[in-house]
Amino acid sequence: MRLPPAPGQAQTLLMVHSLRDKRLEQPLRERERESETQLLPGRDLIASRTPCLSIFTGAAPYPGRETVQVYGTVKTINRGNPTAQEVLVDSWPEFKVVLTRPRREVVSDDSDLYTNTYTVYYQDLGAYHAMLGSAGAVNWGQNFRILGLQDGVYEVCKDIAEAKGIKLEVVRYFTYFHPDPSSMPEIRLDPTVRLSSLDVSHADLLNEMWQLGGNEKSRKYLASLIRHFPSVCLLDAAGHPVSWIASYPFGAMGPGYTLPQHRRRGYMGMLNNLLAKQLHALGYPSYGYVAMENDPMQRLQETQGFQRQPNLWYFILHNPAPAKAPTLTPSPAPGTAPP
Ligand SMILES: CC(C)(COP(=O)(O)OP(=O)(O)OC[C@H]1O[C@@H](n2cnc3c(N)ncnc32)[C@H](O)[C@@H]1OP(=O)(O)O)[C@@H](O)C(=O)NCCC(=O)NCCS
Repeated sequence: MRLPPAPGQAQTLLMVHSLRDKRLEQPLRERERESETQLLPGRDLIASRTPCLSIFTGAAPYPGRETVQVYGTVKTINRGNPTAQEVLVDSWPEFKVVLTRPRREVVSDDSDLYTNTYTVYYQDLGAYHAMLGSAGAVNWGQNFRILGLQDGVYEVCKDIAEAKGIKLEVVRYFTYFHPDPSSMPEIRLDPTVRLSSLDVSHADLLNEMWQLGGNEKSRKYLASLIRHFPSVCLLDAAGHPVSWIASYPFGAMGPGYTLPQHRRRGYMGMLNNLLAKQLHALGYPSYGYVAMENDPMQRLQETQGFQRQPNLWYFILHNPAPAKAPTLTPSPAPGTAPP
């Protein structure tokens, strides 16, 4: 169903696939038939039963590397949408900007920077500016973060945040991408450890070790990653994780960590290899981000065949003034960095 755009107003397509977790196991086609779509009143919005991935069949098909975050989120939506994401585009079927965001009802806490994560990809900077500035695309009253791989994403956030008097913080990372994880070598496991996936009972440990963790919101976020997204870990003889890597709602790999006394045994290399293959088999791009000063992780990525991309990864944190928001700016110890 399509509404004509109001004169001079950007047309906005909203594809809402509100599927419940239990449908994750259903075949994709069946899930798509059952997708609930909504026409939201009071705005110039269009609901569509079009599978979300079709947004990339037009001018900017994946594997355009700048689209991977949005593509990964859309992939998650089409796999059952366990974290209730939705997609906005400026126009349809030709679009110039696409933004993913959590559905309003899942962001019950205005200061939850973890859950409140948006991803964006634009083909036209002006269209991105117009969407971000328009009423209803972004809730500027909340603390939120926008992820993008294009310099303009930050420029526009900065421009609008300044005009609104909102505090902004940006962290830039290197972006890594593996063009063909199926070509990665087979792994030979160390017999002293056992391969597993993470369990929700490990969330406290991950939260303790994650550079961006250490609070209740981050613990909940990590528990949600563990519950809904692929992860791998190595357990010691007592069944405790010694090395792990999870994945995010936008399909990127991380956070990853090896306990200090278990480092340099090739554990993260193995897990990185295995998770990249798992994500690839599910149709996700295999990619992630690494702090610019994290030489060990960069070396590890490159040894594994991941390629550093020309695009930096922008983490843009928005904190409504004058509220004091938790800072996510990393201050890594030498040789380590937040995933
Ligand atoms: C980075 C980290 C995950 C590596 O874990 P690991 O299990 O020790 O990694 P591996 O043993 O598989 O190491 C693979 C390669 O990484 C490099 N490497 C790992 N630790 C290193 C160190 N302390 N110094 C230099 N190089 C190191 C090496 O190139 C190594 O290969 P090589 O020994 O064959 O040359 C671990 O140091 C860690 O948890 N750091 C803190 C959190 C972090 O940085 N996470 C990743 C964020 S993106």
